[in-house]
Amino acid sequence: MCGIVGIIGTAPVALPIVDALKRLEYRGYDSAGVATLEDGRLTRRRAEGKLRNLERTLLEQPLSGRIGIGHTRWATHGRPNEANAHPHATERLAVVHNGIIENFRELREALVAKGRVFDSETDTEVVAHLVTDLMEGGLDPVAAVAAALPRLKGAFALAFLFAGEPDLLIGARRGAPLAVGHGEGEMFLGSDAMALAPFTDAVTYLEDGDWAVLDRTGARLFDERDRPVQRPRQTSAASALLVDKGHYRHFMAKEIHEQPEVVGRTLSHYIDPATGTIRLPFELPFDPTRLDRITILACGTAYMAGLTAKYWLERFCRLPVDVDVASEFRYREAPMRAGGLTIVVSQSGETADTLASLRYAKALGQHVLAVVNVPTSTMAREADILAPTLAGPEIGVASTKAFTCQLATLACLAIGLGRALGTLDREAETALVAELMAVPGLIVAATRREPAIEAIARTLSHARDVLYLGRGTSYPLALEGALKLKELSYIHAEGYAAGELKHGPIALIDETMPVVVLAPPDAVFEKTVSNLQEVAARGGRIILIGAADAAETAAITADATLAMPPMPPTFTALVYAVPVQLLAYHVAVVMGNDADQPRNLAKSVTVE
Ligand code: F6R
Repeated sequence: MCGIVGIIGTAPVALPIVDALKRLEYRGYDSAGVATLEDGRLTRRRAEGKLRNLERTLLEQPLSGRIGIGHTRWATHGRPNEANAHPHATERLAVVHNGIIENFRELREALVAKGRVFDSETDTEVVAHLVTDLMEGGLDPVAAVAAALPRLKGAFALAFLFAGEPDLLIGARRGAPLAVGHGEGEMFLGSDAMALAPFTDAVTYLEDGDWAVLDRTGARLFDERDRPVQRPRQTSAASALLVDKGHYRHFMAKEIHEQPEVVGRTLSHYIDPATGTIRLPFELPFDPTRLDRITILACGTAYMAGLTAKYWLERFCRLPVDVDVASEFRYREAPMRAGGLTIVVSQSGETADTLASLRYAKALGQHVLAVVNVPTSTMAREADILAPTLAGPEIGVASTKAFTCQLATLACLAIGLGRALGTLDREAETALVAELMAVPGLIVAATRREPAIEAIARTLSHARDVLYLGRGTSYPLALEGALKLKELSYIHAEGYAAGELKHGPIALIDETMPVVVLAPPDAVFEKTVSNLQEVAARGGRIILIGAADAAETAAITADATLAMPPMPPTFTALVYAVPVQLLAYHVAVVMGNDADQPRNLAKSVTVE
């Protein structure tokens, strides 16, 4: 998604703004721009494509202003070209914007009728003209922004720079995050604490509806009813050093290899190693024995984590679990009983559909527990209970370590809840916890299969379609494998419950179709064997991910077998996720694709 940076500085700000925007590159974007004030006049440079294009423009035509705003744009309204890139400007102001202005058409028509001329196809430009129009009506910049904000519908974050105002930036947050950074004689705005990390670790997160007026000495904050408010100043944990690939070629590779450590760290947040039991770091604000159902809501990879958790929660807690794609759930007017439990799962904690579902569930009186990776995110703040994943910042757009940390957290929650309900006894708990504690070591063993995975990736890169099959918790992992491959390689891939094969997709199987079968040694392995045989009998090219003897046991010949370390049956998804991720990664590398920023994708999807 788009990124915003604003600086009131003591030296030229254009290049520092670009450097800060680079730290937001992971969110995905397709054009960028920066505006500053030179002798009180607005000057801007914009470029299509990567930030290096903007940098080149700035080297050829430097900007010397000491106050400025910058933006990376992920196109929603209008193509990703220079004219649509932000900042959008009038003679009086420049503005950058994340999110969507839903009523831009009617506002635009009214402004065009007043004679205002638009240069772009974007919804953002309407904000520039609206505030300009109000200023021409006699309002000063602060009053004009205050008057404009209530007229905008949608979910957005905005930052404004005004001609002739070398000591003023205004930021507004409604639905999309925005933070104020405090420096020494300098002030900053950023859509993400990560962007502010090189400048300051003293950060104030705006609450939804807040807007902020910054000058060199500080920030005045107002709520949505324009009442002055104080918000806490926090020390941001996003270190300036964190955005570093180390010796890896891509962040994605680094993040896959970080999994033993971050999954271990996440597990130790929920496990008491001395007793080998679950120790949830929060009190449940309700009586779990009164629950009759659990609802899990999420998008994309986080949804796959939710689907996996359904298997654990139903087994350990003996409660029915509904898992829903948040974008569908939020508009379905689904009935929910007050007092029930809703779990939202999100890496960013900002995904628009998941956030809207959280609010819907809360409005119906559900207790909301958020499994999120960004503890300062909106979901983390709005949920009743925060269950953090301790994956650290995930920069690769395709989620990897956040996914396994979500699985680790959800596994611990399922066991903890099972104990609280009395559906799991102490002995079962300690056995499950022992299985979980072995996972980081097993992930290390799984990463050692990388050379074999690279070899398979070379063959897979020629495929037109790929099928992923699995049963039990390997079914959501099959969906996740197909999603990862599509995202990174742009090869068409489908995930299926292996038992569904004969109900349709078997028609696709022939000698040109690679079929990745996830067959861990779990309770449904024998059933998966039948599906392996069905594929083999039709000449399908099997890539088998399972125990070393899986092909032999299934009496099939696989095109390739990835022998996974022996492990107990319950949490195989946490370990088998690794070859699934590495396979997609290496196919992308072989094909020369950008593994960190796949085309058209954004990291934090703060629009619907
Ligand atoms: C896929 C991926 C996305 C996200 C989805 C939800 O690799 O990363 O599918 O999982 O956009 O994002 P969060 O978890 O931030 O809510």
